[in-house]
Amino acid sequence: MQRFDWNDSFSVGVKVIDEQHRVWIDQLNSLSAAIESHQEARIISKTLNFMIDYVEFHFSAEESLMALQNYPALAQHKLAHEAFRKVLMDLMVLEIEEDGAVSKIGDSINNFQISWLKDHIQQTDRLFGAYLKEKNVALCNEPCAL
Ligand SMILES: [Fe+2]
Ligand SMILES: [Fe+2]
Repeated sequence: MQRFDWNDSFSVGVKVIDEQHRVWIDQLNSLSAAIESHQEARIISKTLNFMIDYVEFHFSAEESLMALQNYPALAQHKLAHEAFRKVLMDLMVLEIEEDGAVSKIGDSINNFQISWLKDHIQQTDRLFGAYLKEKNVALCNEPCAL
């Protein structure tokens, strides 16, 4: 199973977003590790659902922040989130005990989720960081209201 190791090239320049990405990446790596070490299906399912809840939280937080800052590319950004959400929803409805369910989750991580997240952070989320920088908005230096 592949891992995603965060480094500075994944910083979007917004502290609260970077922190959330790191939590998501940790959860993704935990899910990979659970699959690789052949954990019980119900543990894999629990880990997957935990990550999906976090992704939902992160997408909402990011979209709210963008709305608050009148980000012009918000609608387009929401569409990108929506497409990823759909992929996760398809995994969520799998019958985890059925043959092939766990390997479908593993394939999705290896062949899609990691590369999607890398590209989305480095290309799409980063545009929002650049927008804030241009507007000169300093977000989430202490204290953070978000
Ligand atoms: Fe995003
Ligand atoms: Fe993001």
